[in-house]
Amino acid sequence: MPPLSATVTPARRLAGRLRVPGDKSIAHRYAILAALADGRSQVTNFAPGADCRSTVACLRQLGVDIFDTHGAVTVLGRGAAGLSSPSAPLDCGNSGTTMRLLSGVLASERFSTRLTGDPSLSRRPMTRVIVPLTEMGARFEAANGCAPLIVHGAPLHAIAYRTVVPSAQVKSAVLLAGLRAEGTTRVTEPAQTRDHTERALAAFGARVAQDGLQLSIDGGQRLSGLALTVPGDFSSAAFWMVGAAALPGSRVEIEDVGLNPTRTALVDVLRRFGARVSLETTATDAGEPRGTIVVEGDRRGTVEISRDEVPGLIDELPAIAALAAHGGEVSVAGAAELRVKESDRIAALVAGFRALGIAADERDDGFVVRGPESGAPRPAGGAPDARGDHRMAMAFAIAALGADRPSVIDGSDAVAISYPGFFETLAQLVA
Ligand code: S3P
Repeated sequence: MPPLSATVTPARRLAGRLRVPGDKSIAHRYAILAALADGRSQVTNFAPGADCRSTVACLRQLGVDIFDTHGAVTVLGRGAAGLSSPSAPLDCGNSGTTMRLLSGVLASERFSTRLTGDPSLSRRPMTRVIVPLTEMGARFEAANGCAPLIVHGAPLHAIAYRTVVPSAQVKSAVLLAGLRAEGTTRVTEPAQTRDHTERALAAFGARVAQDGLQLSIDGGQRLSGLALTVPGDFSSAAFWMVGAAALPGSRVEIEDVGLNPTRTALVDVLRRFGARVSLETTATDAGEPRGTIVVEGDRRGTVEISRDEVPGLIDELPAIAALAAHGGEVSVAGAAELRVKESDRIAALVAGFRALGIAADERDDGFVVRGPESGAPRPAGGAPDARGDHRMAMAFAIAALGADRPSVIDGSDAVAISYPGFFETLAQLVA
């Protein structure tokens, strides 16, 4: 099907109370751990996007029974070593998390599995998981370190591994392999990344020890199925938070959203920009806090993001760029990782913002966006191309709210990866 487009008309402010879809990162992990657990798990508010559907489809091909009824997913766990050899390649679609986490699981299996992805995923680096998993005893085939991958599972032994780039996906692949390896696997990150795998492993009954940035997991532990609720996705909420912060007089209240501190660094960024932000934790389930976020737009300042902040903001940087479309200035450094996401997010962002008439420049490892209050012209509006990337489509939509005339977001259907219904919700929030 050819890509679709969506028209975004300029808006004065955003107002309303809403919930966002279930967290994509957490839902992948609950589905995978539930598949490896003994017994049944029920996952409520499972993420509705295409990425998590890819994980579910792959697990089904590995012999796991998964039933989906109105957003609640029931998984009949296969227990330790219970997965079966798939009869066809596993298609991970657009999802890097699916491919990297499943590589960690499949590394210890008695069979070989071929993992494929869409053209975007087939360009993304997989060497970062291949290196540690090979050191543990698995064997991989991958031309140029990219998908399609063939994982030849083998009995694994524990390693002590330092991840090169801060990556929750790599850390998680090593921990999942470590769960089935002989001995105690250790993984140390250069900076804290989202810790959903650690929290989920503990909820399913596995012990993961933490010492600063080092995690240790003993091989051979069994997991037990349970009932869980996925919180709303903070990275989806981020677009409404930014929209409200960027448009003075806005007030957006988001309920039941995940408030895991490894995901919420955007709150501080919005406060630096000049917005009023409040958080209230209302529940904690399986170690994941969730609650209500209120953002009110007020002043529009300058935001500088430096290298050490990037791991906590990695999925929010496109949204943060959209702040400057409305006023002020945003500069980001130390974020070369953005070039190997669903698109080259530095190039796609700058090209799309320029198409909207926004002053934006690429850096090797980041970008600078200047809004009307820093001397740049008010954006005229235009037709940015999301380049198949869900977060680009949403960032362009929030930026386009500050333009003079309506804009057309090409490839708007990409939002279905993490946020089906994004444009319908946008229409409801525009005041
Ligand atoms: C994710 C980790 C991050 C993030 C991605 C989801 C995860 O990727 O950008 O959207 O679920 O573990 P990296 O591990 O490549 O930084």
